[in-house]
Amino acid sequence: MKNIDSRSHVRGESIYVDDIPVREGTLYGAVFGAPHAHGRITALDTAKAANATNVFRVLTAADIPGENQIGGIIPDEPLLAADAFHFQGQPIAIVLAESEEAARAALSLIHLEFEPLPVITDPRQARAQGELIQPPRTFKLGDVDSAWTNCTHIFEGRAESGGQEHLYIEAQGAYAYLTEQGGLQIFSSTQGPTAVQRTTTRVLAIGMHQIEVDVTRLGGGFGGKEDQATPWAVMAGLGALCTRRPVKIVLHRLDDMRMTGKRHPYSSDFKIGLDGDFKILAYEVTFHQDAGAAADLSPAVMERTLFHCTNSYFVPNVRATAYSCRTHLPPNTAFRGFGGPQGMFVIEAAICKAAEALGVKPAQIQKRNLLEEGDAFPYGQTTSGCRALASWNQLERSQGTAELEAGIAAFNETNRFIKKGLAFQPICFGISFTKTHMNQASALVHIYTDGTVGISTGAVEMGQGVNTKMLQVAAELFSIEPSRIKMETTNTTRVANTSPTAASSSADLNGKALEKACHCLRDRLCHTAAGILGHGRADRIQLREEKVFDGDMETDLSWAKLVEGAYFQRVSLSQQAHYATPGLHFDTETEKGEPFAYHVYGTAALVAVVDVIRGTYHFETVRLVHDFGRSMNKTIDLGQVEGGLVQGIGWMTMEELLYNEEGRLLSNALSTYKVPDIYAVPEEIAVEFLETEGSPLALLKSKAVGEPPLMYGLGAYFALRDAIRAWRDTADLPLAAPMTPERVLMALHGPHPVKPVPEESPAIAAQE
Ligand code: MTE
Ligand code: HPA
Ligand code: MOS
Repeated sequence: MKNIDSRSHVRGESIYVDDIPVREGTLYGAVFGAPHAHGRITALDTAKAANATNVFRVLTAADIPGENQIGGIIPDEPLLAADAFHFQGQPIAIVLAESEEAARAALSLIHLEFEPLPVITDPRQARAQGELIQPPRTFKLGDVDSAWTNCTHIFEGRAESGGQEHLYIEAQGAYAYLTEQGGLQIFSSTQGPTAVQRTTTRVLAIGMHQIEVDVTRLGGGFGGKEDQATPWAVMAGLGALCTRRPVKIVLHRLDDMRMTGKRHPYSSDFKIGLDGDFKILAYEVTFHQDAGAAADLSPAVMERTLFHCTNSYFVPNVRATAYSCRTHLPPNTAFRGFGGPQGMFVIEAAICKAAEALGVKPAQIQKRNLLEEGDAFPYGQTTSGCRALASWNQLERSQGTAELEAGIAAFNETNRFIKKGLAFQPICFGISFTKTHMNQASALVHIYTDGTVGISTGAVEMGQGVNTKMLQVAAELFSIEPSRIKMETTNTTRVANTSPTAASSSADLNGKALEKACHCLRDRLCHTAAGILGHGRADRIQLREEKVFDGDMETDLSWAKLVEGAYFQRVSLSQQAHYATPGLHFDTETEKGEPFAYHVYGTAALVAVVDVIRGTYHFETVRLVHDFGRSMNKTIDLGQVEGGLVQGIGWMTMEELLYNEEGRLLSNALSTYKVPDIYAVPEEIAVEFLETEGSPLALLKSKAVGEPPLMYGLGAYFALRDAIRAWRDTADLPLAAPMTPERVLMALHGPHPVKPVPEESPAIAAQE
């Protein structure tokens, strides 16, 4: 089944926040942000701006009726800075005007005086100065300290991964107006309608029951709208409350890039120990997460970094510690993978460092250490339905990786100025929100008397195709034509207390709730049918392709007639249902538990081609075998794999966020921040479905697919490195992503220390 949105997308008919027809009297908001990264506010004068032509009002922290607080996990972030600001672009005031132009023009009339304070842009410096968002956490397995003595090879190093701008095509925005009796309607481009509702309640001091948040769809979120869609929606609500007029705030791209948080950059130290057969015996890692100026989702992101610190490898002795460091950058936030990719990058870097020093290919170490059935993760959960080796083997077998490797070696023999490199990238990603309580969802189904169906769930459509999957569930369970079913907007009045659409779990969670609701309705209709057919045996009734069957006999009762009959018998045709993933638990005292419903596995092989003179590169092929379980929609799932892969390659290669020492974003536009375009996409992407049984906790045994494929992109970094080493293998190159063409050029021709000799192991030293 095609994505139900594709037709309206292609025709330009899909509705986003900026497309909602505005009501008469609508005011347009523009946000005044801090001009410096850190300062104490000594004076704020908005009078001139307020008196400007067509400006209706300027709002500051003083206009907030409730709590000036938007921090979701830790209350450390004001909606509007009052006494001090902590990052460039932090919102301080909102200009409301009759037009967007008038609102933006008045921004320059706001007068702010401040005393500049020292700026930190480096997470390690933040840690040294005690600027931590929360106390560090450590995940442990086995006994690392005594394991080193058994290691034949030990390597230490440092790995850096950069941030990433979400670059959803639809910028942040919201539209809000008052309804009667103190109600507030908010249209928001958010992954978390309930988060918007909850925070609006806090800031505006009105009950959640008075606030209706509605989301039609997002022009992409990628995590950037899990938490950070909230402030703009609350601002629109505040504007509506203060002026009693509708208020629309849609950010311009440059403001969106400047004011919102991104993927967290990480700076990490590792130590890895292997035995003589390249079995990893011990791994120690310290992560420095650059949280930015406030907590936002950083504690949860940091947690997932720890969960994924050993990727798809079994390591018997692990100690992983993470620090969430407060700097003066915009608060960093969720981004596809949610800290997992950052954790996985470091162990891949450690393996790469070991391989380079030992003179073997990283794949040799990777494959040797893949998780097997029943192996324990550092957080206590053991693998079940492990596909690490299965996906690797299938990739080798049916995607011809041996020939690929031989071809590259031959190419590099005969080509002096173009070099190719290969990397294998296995992935393992845990499915479920790491916060156990968030693993719940609800659905509401109405069957109308004409036999059509309306479905509401807590899931937000943001391009990932969740609405199509929901529609498939209902169409299958009722056995009716998809055209009879409408996916309604995601709305807090229809479906309440929702988790954000995130953690790749929304199809599973909302789909399971929807299954429950549909089962209830189907059972009820089967009883009705049994009554109409006169025998009362509901167990004999089946709904098949819009027809009612009695056993295997087709009756002349159709779906539509049955529904109508039920209505006349006063049988309820509406059903709400709630689902909570069973079996999950996690103890943060011991840092052990069963946090994930299941894991998703896969392996990719990536081939990079580097122009040795210019430092430019492209990706010739990416071949991968991915564990979809029993994919319920191959078109959508394939789209998720391709999109995730390319987004991951972008993060590892060309996307470079640059801040200066003052915390000013330098790569603040599409002219200076380069994302993959159609020309940067690998020439070939071959995706093979590893058909597995799937997990009973996955919707229709079709495994979650939203985030995991991004992590295949990690291999882009290592494939480039492999190509560079085909030209120059003597240098000890820094393990730092993104591998921009500039960095590639420096790696090829710049000064670098010479590759280190492997450290002598304590065991060997003792023998001598
Ligand atoms: N795909 C598209 N087209 N647009 C998006 O914004 N977000 C990703 C992924 N795929 C995203 C996407 C992220 S970060 C997540 S968590 C999942 O979709 C969320 O949707 P799911 O739970 O339905 O997989
Ligand atoms: N993923 C995404 N969002 C989240 C998570 C997670 O694991 N935990 C809390 N919010
Ligand atoms: Mo996705 S980062 O969990 O929104």
